[in-house]
Amino acid sequence: MEVLRAAVDAIRKEKPRKIVVLTGAGVSADSGIPTFRGAGGLWRNYRAEDLATPEAFARSPLLVWEWYEWRRSIVREAEPNAAHRAIASLAKALVVTQNVDGLHQRAGSQNVIELHGNLFRTRCVRDDSRRDAIHAFGDLPPHCECGALLRPDVVWFGETLPEGAFARASHAVSEADLLLVIGTSGVVFPAAGLVSLHDGLSIEINPQVSAISSACTFAIAAKAAEAAPAIIEAIHAGTDR
Ligand code: APR
Repeated sequence: MEVLRAAVDAIRKEKPRKIVVLTGAGVSADSGIPTFRGAGGLWRNYRAEDLATPEAFARSPLLVWEWYEWRRSIVREAEPNAAHRAIASLAKALVVTQNVDGLHQRAGSQNVIELHGNLFRTRCVRDDSRRDAIHAFGDLPPHCECGALLRPDVVWFGETLPEGAFARASHAVSEADLLLVIGTSGVVFPAAGLVSLHDGLSIEINPQVSAISSACTFAIAAKAAEAAPAIIEAIHAGTDR
């Protein structure tokens, strides 16, 4: 593929060392996890925007939790794919992800900013205390020992990102020699705005044209698991690791 070859040539020429990888749901699509805005993104005819809001949770914690339990069960069965593994091989890179599935960490990435939280953590609505919650809940909606409702520790539409996460991500993106943008539609802010903070080589991998394709130096029209290993191999070749 011509664009992929041109991107590899640019990597060979520039030998980037400071690398940020910005990911969205598409990087996990090859692990069998449905994206939000693609085929299979609807659940019982609801869109993410109908369920991932404080208002939806206030209206029906049960409905929102049923959706999360469905997503949690899919992710529990899924495995990181070749794209997650290739990204993890960039030991010094920073991964900034909008995903809440934890697959980057399961693939071995150590330096991950989760902009939107994690599916396998809960938060007490009364005192905000967080805890890991790996297994399915017997009764829905789940409650804290204090009696209050638990919610997933994720960022819903209209909520702010975890403290410091966006500032750290912005700083790293603005300093990076190379920004890889993998599998995001680029329509949800502030995450999508990170791309405009980067000056220099940027490479998108997405089978579809996204809202941020034109802001990237190269937009490779391919699946993450197909193109990310080749791109990342070129990075390793240029830096002898
Ligand atoms: N490889 C790479 N990209 C892919 C693949 C694949 N195999 N399959 C689909 N894609 C692309 C789609 O073309 C689309 O552009 O992944 C993107 C997924 O877009 P969205 O579903 O909008 O997911 P994302 O960009 O992560 O959404 C952002 O919105 O719903 C909220 O909080 C949620 O974090 C999420 C945020």
